[in-house]
Amino acid sequence: MAKGTATIAPDKLSAADAKAELARLAREIARHDQLYHQDDDPEISDAEYDALRQRNAAIEQLFPKLVRADSPSLKVGAAPAAGFSKVAHRRPMLSLENGFTEEDVADFFARIRRFLKLGPDDPIDIVAEPKIDGASASLTYENGAYRLGATRGDGSVGEDVTRNIATIGDVPQKLKGRNTPALLELRGEVYMTRQDFIAMNERRAAAGEPLFANPRNAAAGSLRQLDPQVTMSRPLHFFAYSEGDSDGALDRIKTQWEFLEQLRAWGFAVNPLARRCATPDEALAYHRELAAERATLPYDIDGVVYKVNRRDWQQRLGLVSRAPRWALAHKFPAEQAETILEKIDIQVGRTGALTPVAHLKPINVGGVVVARATLHNEDEIARKDIREGDSVIIQRAGDVIPQVVQVVLAKRRKGARKFRMPETCPVCGSHAIREPDEVVRRCTGGLICPAQAVERLKHFVSRGAFDIEGFGAKHIQAFREDKLVQSPADIFRLHKRRDEIEDREGWGKQSVEKLLAAIEQRRQIGLDRFIYALGIRQVGEATAKLLARNYQSLKALRAAMKEAQDEESEAFRELDNIEGIGPSMAADIVGFFGEPHNLEALDDLTSEIGVEDAKLPTVSGSRVAGKTVVFTGSLETMTRDEAKARAETLGAKVAGSVSKKTDYLVVGADAGSKAKKAAELGVTTLTEQEWLALIGG
Ligand code: IVH
Repeated sequence: MAKGTATIAPDKLSAADAKAELARLAREIARHDQLYHQDDDPEISDAEYDALRQRNAAIEQLFPKLVRADSPSLKVGAAPAAGFSKVAHRRPMLSLENGFTEEDVADFFARIRRFLKLGPDDPIDIVAEPKIDGASASLTYENGAYRLGATRGDGSVGEDVTRNIATIGDVPQKLKGRNTPALLELRGEVYMTRQDFIAMNERRAAAGEPLFANPRNAAAGSLRQLDPQVTMSRPLHFFAYSEGDSDGALDRIKTQWEFLEQLRAWGFAVNPLARRCATPDEALAYHRELAAERATLPYDIDGVVYKVNRRDWQQRLGLVSRAPRWALAHKFPAEQAETILEKIDIQVGRTGALTPVAHLKPINVGGVVVARATLHNEDEIARKDIREGDSVIIQRAGDVIPQVVQVVLAKRRKGARKFRMPETCPVCGSHAIREPDEVVRRCTGGLICPAQAVERLKHFVSRGAFDIEGFGAKHIQAFREDKLVQSPADIFRLHKRRDEIEDREGWGKQSVEKLLAAIEQRRQIGLDRFIYALGIRQVGEATAKLLARNYQSLKALRAAMKEAQDEESEAFRELDNIEGIGPSMAADIVGFFGEPHNLEALDDLTSEIGVEDAKLPTVSGSRVAGKTVVFTGSLETMTRDEAKARAETLGAKVAGSVSKKTDYLVVGADAGSKAKKAAELGVTTLTEQEWLALIGG
């Protein structure tokens, strides 16, 4: 047993002793963590604590197969033990659209021009800023005093890290100057300099602690420490760059540039490299300059952010799904490196798609070790003539999965064979077929294919779906193999099998408790997340939101989809008519609801959980909330896109053509057949002026 093993040198331990010793160390270290972080009452010195961790790491290195799921070495940067309380952002924390080429930048400007109906010579002033590679955070000030700090989280709800952010020197406790607003919420980036990151990793290596992969992970991990003392010991910085919400205090500020100046005046650190640009060419020149300077900057940047300078224009431009139409992240070109492609492996996704994946000889690309790259599909492999054993150039751009750019043909060894895609599923052995108009080959195993089942479950619990914390891929796979979880509904029955889980290797009372609590928290879920979780082909988060918004309840959605099985039905037309849903997507959605086993799975699931109806944004004073509107003809005071965006912010649904469900048809000049149809159906027709009057100008 474990007794006595504590004094044996790691390399003298038998496998059985090593296992017992790792279990003991996990317990011991967790206990000391608790004493130190929660109880503020450590029993041992820091050096003794470090020695325990070092011993744990040394044994794990000798016996990698014995690393425990609850190993102390895996706990860095992961969700903290007791967790933070949640903070709902006053306004969603958005992401940015990415551009990579000069053409993408030209498109960005052209779109703004179109949207705002600007002439070809009207200038569009922008502010260009470095895109800091850190972790975004939201800071709230009340009457000039720092009150709340939060992580981005999923964009709607973040974690309360108020005390941690308070330890960052660049964050003022009090806003400078008089006339401070009653309420100010602003956003910015928490980051770590490269030098600090390297020094910190050296200290961690010396202490036998796991290393952070890059400054961004280090910043994000440090921000999410339960103990603010730990965060304080980490060299974090902060740049402020955008507004979140305010009580009108910013109304007098007309431009992004003035906003940055105001931030400086209040005492924030604002990136000194931000620059105003009057033309796309100036913006591109800035991008080139910064790309050249990048390596010499003290912190990591991964591109440039362009923002429309005029705030009234920002307002008008609004959003496209989760990103502002008035901003673009112009990323730097990908970093490349050469390595050997050792093997091509086939992965099976949740829809049965067979995806070839390259296993590479691990190589460092721009600071990150890469061992795998996606090969997309068989046509891509054929086009690039990629073969096992080839020397290949790979590249990494931003957060995307590394890709194989090309083969170094000069280095191809003799006898290298062309790659052939398997015609059966490597996991379940069913035929894998390729439909004539598709590029992917799919496993026909459906429900019997374990790979698909696991992928579907993984998707089901993923962040944008049920978001069940602590239920990772490894657990899902193991639970499925042991028949604890076969279908999504089974997850919500796991509480009945508590004892079985507790008896499993790597699980204990506490970890089971935590998992079951995380599951219980999700027994009620919003319709949009629910739809996304179903994993219908082509239905991502944005489409799921569209569906939720349009049908509002699961019951209504199911009824409509039943009727829509007939492609001639009104219900099918209505689905196809939703702006943002095309015919092929509509076919996949209807197809999903036409499969009896999907309907059974839905019934089973809804017997365990509750799906909340979608709430249309309650826009105070909006007279068009919940109404379905169609725009036709050309409008005078705004573009069609702008009109649509306005209507949606006011809670209206915008459709592409007139049907019985249409509440208003707004007709501009040269309206065609839609006006006639509306008249036939008795739909209210409004002129542009009448519409503006209805929505309040
Ligand atoms: S503005 C509404 N400006 O990039 C616009 N974001 O890829 C909100 N980021 O989540 C963001 N530097 O964390 C903005 N100068 C900068 C930035 C920046 C880094 C991050 C931010 C955002 C992410 C999107």
